[in-house]
Amino acid sequence: MAITAVRGTKDVLPLETPIYTYLENTARQIFGLYGYEEIRTPIFEQTELFKRGTGEATDIVSKEMYTFLDRKGRSLTLRPEGTPAIVRAYLEHKLGMQSPISKLFYIGPMFRYERPQAGRLRQHTQIGAECLGSLAPSLDAEVISMFRQFVTTLGLTKFTVLINSIGCQVCRPGYREALRNYLRPHLETLCVDCKLRFDRNPLRVMDCKVESCQPIVLKTPISIDYLCDNCRAHFEEVKKYLEILNVTYQLAPRLVRGLDYYTRTVFECQVESLGAQNAIGGGGRYDELAEILGGPETPGLGFGTGIERLALALELQKIPLPVKNNPAVVFVTLGKPAFDYAIPVIAELRNSGIPMQIDYRQGSMKSQLNFANRLGAKQVVILGETELNSQSCILKDMTTSEQKTIPLSNLKATLTKAPI
Ligand code: HAM
Repeated sequence: MAITAVRGTKDVLPLETPIYTYLENTARQIFGLYGYEEIRTPIFEQTELFKRGTGEATDIVSKEMYTFLDRKGRSLTLRPEGTPAIVRAYLEHKLGMQSPISKLFYIGPMFRYERPQAGRLRQHTQIGAECLGSLAPSLDAEVISMFRQFVTTLGLTKFTVLINSIGCQVCRPGYREALRNYLRPHLETLCVDCKLRFDRNPLRVMDCKVESCQPIVLKTPISIDYLCDNCRAHFEEVKKYLEILNVTYQLAPRLVRGLDYYTRTVFECQVESLGAQNAIGGGGRYDELAEILGGPETPGLGFGTGIERLALALELQKIPLPVKNNPAVVFVTLGKPAFDYAIPVIAELRNSGIPMQIDYRQGSMKSQLNFANRLGAKQVVILGETELNSQSCILKDMTTSEQKTIPLSNLKATLTKAPI
């Protein structure tokens, strides 16, 4: 039996790769405007990093990690998300000593053992941004605004930015207690996972997707009612700066996001047409994460967005995506002497930056022109015995079918000038 790709993984075929590079390049360009620099961390990390960072009570850590022992028996995990790894690298390389604020972005694969469906993969590609070193609420607004600029630059229009504040270590215990007091009488009705969440971290009950838990989840106490004065003032400022920056948002009082490290602001960007997997991106503050990972107190915030989900949203909203815009010029040769003549000419043209192709099967003129059509060639160079004898070639415009004979010595200059 033929071997196929692993369930939940996806081959990105050449027709699709331009979409991926387009999304990545747009992210690089927009994030650059805000001073973000690229960081690349390993695809696997010590399992402990995610247990501590992402949090043991999360679905990601408790059910979805690809964890394995290496040959020396060390537990390693394919990264399910970027944030703990970026904070680890920030602490390990003391980036905080180099500048008071570190703005970092990353692009790469993440791995989660989830049930695959449209927009949900076991290997997805995430574009993420993390900003470490500041508590300023204006920065929360800047990060959300950068995310919005990114998606609007892509052409997405129908999306909603949801925001909430889930407090800090001062006010969170009070909120947790209120949640437990509310949930206690419903414990019998809650699903098995939520019963565990009740003890470990009752906020995680609010991520539950099980049908029977929904009536209970929909009526939980909300975090903004329990914020301490500092968190309340911070949230007010975040909203104020969002308004200054003209970012339209909706308050989502039960948005807690499925990761344990969040403090204060959390946000998500949703696209309704995507159905169940409607979040194209999300993030928030994690002012306690650096300490949880053994570093000094370092506030931080950021977000992540999945390329596959973004591509799906763009497709659903029928937003034109960039097509291959640099088709090769095809060299059609008739007869062995013309072919042998063309080979070094093609090499020279490529060296000057002109994309060139030749059909190595060397069929008839018709089949070589078909080959050129399939490649989407806009121009074809035809070289037969007659042309070779007169040191000329025919340049054919594939759109208009116009042909002209030019000296071979002019070929490079003509192609360079030609709009490709
Ligand atoms: P997250 O919400 O788990 O957050 O993931 C961020 C984005 O990655 C999602 O909104 C979605 O677009 C995409 N994504 C996640 N899981 C999948 C999947 N299984 N298949 C396809 N796409 C997926 C985080 O990962 C945080 N690290 C974000 C963050 C950065 N918070 C602060 N800084």
